[in-house]
Amino acid sequence: MSKEVFIRMRGVEKSFGSQRVLKGVDLDIYRGETLVLLGGSGGGKSVLMKHMTGLLQPDRGMVELEGEDISGLAERELAGVRRRISMMFQSGALFDSLSVGENIAFPLLEGGLKDVAEIERRVSDALKIVRLAGQENKMPSELSGGMRKRVALARAVVERPCCVLYDEPHAGLDPITGDSIDRLITDLKVDHGITNVVITHEIRSVFRIADRVVFMKEGLVYWEGTPVELRDSDDRLLTNFVEGRSEESDL
Ligand SMILES: Nc1ncnc2c1ncn2[C@@H]1O[C@H](COP(=O)(O)OP(=O)(O)OP(=O)(O)O)[C@@H](O)[C@H]1O
Ligand SMILES: [Mg+2]
Repeated sequence: MSKEVFIRMRGVEKSFGSQRVLKGVDLDIYRGETLVLLGGSGGGKSVLMKHMTGLLQPDRGMVELEGEDISGLAERELAGVRRRISMMFQSGALFDSLSVGENIAFPLLEGGLKDVAEIERRVSDALKIVRLAGQENKMPSELSGGMRKRVALARAVVERPCCVLYDEPHAGLDPITGDSIDRLITDLKVDHGITNVVITHEIRSVFRIADRVVFMKEGLVYWEGTPVELRDSDDRLLTNFVEGRSEESDL
C-alpha cells in the first residue's frame, strides 16, 4: 500500500450553535487504503465524513484533498471534489419513483452527461461492480434491503470516483448481507484502486475490511492503528468496543 496522503485534515473544528462537535481533528487518509472510523454515537463521525467532501465546512482548521485546500471552496467549485469523492449516506436513500437504472444514472445527468449510450454503459458497468448486472428496470420497492444498499453503492461509483465514503453501510442488514457489502468494499479497493472510508458499528466488518482504524471520541481522534493493534490493545474503551460491551453495541 502506498503512503501517499489523499485527504489531510488538520485542526478541524466544527460547532452547531453552542455544541462543539469536532474539537480539532488531525487525520491523514492514504490513497488506496480502507480506513474504518469507529466511535460512540454522537461522537462526530458523520460530521467528520461530511467535511471530506465539502458537504460541511470547518469553522477552523484545514481539509486538503490531494494537496488542495477544499475547506474554503464555494458550492460551484466543489463539483470537482464530488466527482473524485462520493458518499453513500447513512440512510442510503434511493428515489422510489425512479427505476434502479434511473437512480444510478442520476449523478451522471446532474453532471451534465447527455450521451444516452454512454450513460447506459456506465450504469451497466456500475451494476456489474455491485453484482446486480441487468437489474436496471427493477423498481426500488422490488428490492431487498441488501440490494438497495448495493444500488446505492452503484450510484456512488457510477462517476468513477477515486474515493468512496460509506456512512454505516451495514446498518439494518443481516450478517450475511453485511458480509457481501464488505466484499464489495474490498473489491473496489483491490480491483479499482479506490480509497475507502467506512463508518461502522460492526466490529466483524472492521477485521474484514480495514487497513487502518481510527477511533473517535467526543470530537477528537482518540486512537488510531491497525486492526491487529486494535485487537491486542488493552485500552478499556477499545476492548469494550471489540468485545461488544460498549453502550453502542446495540446499534
Ligand atoms: N447539521 C447539524 N446540525 C446540528 N447538529 C448536528 C448536525 N449534524 C450533526 N449534529 C450533531 O453533532 C453531533 C455528532 O453527530 P454525528 O452525526 O457526527 O455523530 P456520529 O458519530 O455519526 O453518531 P452515530 O454513530 O449515532 O451516527 C450530534 O450531537 C448531532 O446531533
Ligand atoms: Mg453517524
